[in-house]
Amino acid sequence: MISRFSLLAAALGAALLAAPARADDNTVTIGMILPMTGPQASTGKQERAGAELYIQQHGDTVAGKKIALVVKDDASAADVTKRLAEELIGNDHAAVLMGFGLTPLALAAAPVATEAKVPEIVTAAATAMITEKSPYIVRTSFTLPQASAPMAEWSLKNGIKKVVTIVADYGPGVDAEKWFSDTFEKGGGTVAEKIRVPLKNPDFAPFLQRVKDDAPDAVFVFVPSGQGAVFMKEFVERGLDKAGIKLIGTGDVTDDDLLADIGDSALGAVTAHHYSADHDSPENKAFVAAFEKANNGMRPNFMAVGGYDGMALVYQALEKTKGDASGDALLAAMKGMSWMSPRGPVSIDPETRDIVQNIYVRKVEKKDGALYNVEFATIPDVKDPYKAAKH
Ligand code: DHB
Repeated sequence: MISRFSLLAAALGAALLAAPARADDNTVTIGMILPMTGPQASTGKQERAGAELYIQQHGDTVAGKKIALVVKDDASAADVTKRLAEELIGNDHAAVLMGFGLTPLALAAAPVATEAKVPEIVTAAATAMITEKSPYIVRTSFTLPQASAPMAEWSLKNGIKKVVTIVADYGPGVDAEKWFSDTFEKGGGTVAEKIRVPLKNPDFAPFLQRVKDDAPDAVFVFVPSGQGAVFMKEFVERGLDKAGIKLIGTGDVTDDDLLADIGDSALGAVTAHHYSADHDSPENKAFVAAFEKANNGMRPNFMAVGGYDGMALVYQALEKTKGDASGDALLAAMKGMSWMSPRGPVSIDPETRDIVQNIYVRKVEKKDGALYNVEFATIPDVKDPYKAAKH
């Protein structure tokens, strides 16, 4: 016969097994949620390596607290992102959530961050409105309007009169299309056609045939990190380069992680973005060398810098709060924070919680046999124009 005591003991045992290992008060757990598998896996790989490099360089103790980085793979599925966010907070007692490889994934975690009052550091996703979805979201990546409006300004001044836009059909693509087109048209340019392609398994070829028939001066493109190689291959296969059509865009299409694969067909592409591995500063040279050393020669792209700076933000906030890792204390410390990133000087806008940073105009060129986005113009201290327009 089973005694009441053994039933109780069994129940207790089960409860203990289910009970999460509570991190002691001296540990600050950072839950990083990224696509580590699937089509956006390059984002996860770069982001994680960036965050880990920061810890490696700065030690795993800040203001007397031990930093524990826990990385989870959401495979780009928003329902998984949300569940992982809940588990990281509920089971692992994460004090900070970080990562978010695509806009829908950042949005899925927003209500969880708000409810738990835990900072959500968006280090990858880049649709402008993301930071409006929770007062606990802070961003270290960029926004598409931030890069797209300067690209239009440059085009207007450089003899480009007629453009066709091609964007991935979701949040950041819609932002890129709107902020490029509105700025370009306001300055007297013509947008002959605005084409949107599906985010998943895009086939650009039929659209590119249409673009060739439109005979614009340039094609403006936004595709998420990782898809640039496919786009460029089809751009060349359809003969758009030979037809004299320039390739312009945000820097996502000439992603540093992909340039070597894309090859010479990328030569001459002009893009506007916040980071190039070729950025000429002592901080960036040290960053690129350390990153390549730690990752078998892999070149860092803008996702790596997003992860590195996300970690820089958490470390500096913890120093400012003297180790207080409560969400509201960290948020207050992050607002207005400024530092020198490998990309150049950055700060967190205290009103919007978005990153303020230089946008660089770059051209793909060959340097010592390798392709780089070579920066040739700087627009300093750019705030997200979408939010600036609302204020
Ligand atoms: C987003 C994803 C990307 O890979 C990128 O380069 C820009 C934006 C996004 O989903 O927000």
